[in-house]
Amino acid sequence: MLHTSKHPTVVDHSPAKPRSVRNEGTRVAIEFDDGKTGRLSMRWLRLACECEACGDTASGKRWLTPADVPADIRAASIEISSGGETSVAWQDGHVSRFTAGFLAAHVGSGGDADARRFSPVLWSDDLTEELGRFVFDAVVEDDETLFRSLRALRDHGIAMLTGVPAEPEATLRVAGRYGPVRETSYGKVFDLISRPEARVAGETARAQIPHTDEPFRYSPPGFIFFHAIRTGAGSDGTSLMVDGFHVATLMRRDKPELFDLLTRHGVTFHREHAGEVFFSAEAHVISLDASGAVTGIRYNDRCLAPQIAIIDEIDGLIEALAELTRLICDPANQFRHQLQPGEVLVFDNQRVLHGRTAFDPTLAVRHLRSCNLDRDGVHSAFRALARRFAPDEAETVLYQGAIL
Ligand SMILES: [Fe+2]
Repeated sequence: MLHTSKHPTVVDHSPAKPRSVRNEGTRVAIEFDDGKTGRLSMRWLRLACECEACGDTASGKRWLTPADVPADIRAASIEISSGGETSVAWQDGHVSRFTAGFLAAHVGSGGDADARRFSPVLWSDDLTEELGRFVFDAVVEDDETLFRSLRALRDHGIAMLTGVPAEPEATLRVAGRYGPVRETSYGKVFDLISRPEARVAGETARAQIPHTDEPFRYSPPGFIFFHAIRTGAGSDGTSLMVDGFHVATLMRRDKPELFDLLTRHGVTFHREHAGEVFFSAEAHVISLDASGAVTGIRYNDRCLAPQIAIIDEIDGLIEALAELTRLICDPANQFRHQLQPGEVLVFDNQRVLHGRTAFDPTLAVRHLRSCNLDRDGVHSAFRALARRFAPDEAETVLYQGAIL
């Protein structure tokens, strides 16, 4: 019985086709007609079969498990068809087929796993030139413009939308293009209006040190939309944006022992409105991925709880937090922008810290509307559109945020 391996999720855009395959027992050595060579593990290859009997991992209608592939699995024969497809007949009679594109995409990946990992573009006070700006109408109506803005969010963690109508529903209309809007205990859309009886710091007129929002949640907001309805006069209330990955990189270079502490010591953030909510999360301020690269930041000096640490470590932990605060407050690391009505600032809340200078609430009412999206929803929108507009980028491993 012949099974065809489909791998519908892998776009076969590589012109390279296997020229020869050599069965080495536990490995298969492949040489492509463009000169590329590499090896794949036989056990890996058997597990990669997505024929009808084995099922398909992208949809989850999958029937083959890792436990079904024995360590001593061997191929009885391996053949390349004229179309470049490779058929593997296994010793138990099962046959798997793999496209040239699938093999080319994966050969060597066992030795170079970081090649598929995405590297963000870091920035400091110099973002102005590179900041992606996208017009509201185009983002709402045109998938390719939406894709380009999602790519800007992937690269810089921040983008600007312009020409957004001041109507309340415009905020949700544009945000909804990027993924499902998260409903929180503050609702789906939150109006930040300066007022004397402020409930949270964002409603006061005081300066705010750049921070990530809601680090006291196990899973903080992924992407934040700030829609400017009315803004302050002059240069007051200027937004201050900081690339958390950039300051983490500086800290890693200059104060490695303090950086290290923030990647492995738990820090507690909390928020309580008595009788209503009491959030508390202990997490790493700097999250690393499996390769050791920075994948997320959570930090808000205003929600730091009294920390829990052994007496000999507590002063070091506080010094690490103080060093991070100094880097965040350094103007050399801050991109400054005076938001104008009709602008929406979108940013990755697990990478980019946001703050603002003080303003005079008697001179102007400041009104921002804000909503939150989960980061995997936004990255899903990026990948789905990348299938259409940039297939090479669709399967890159993106940085996955402030994991606990
Ligand atoms: Fe905030």
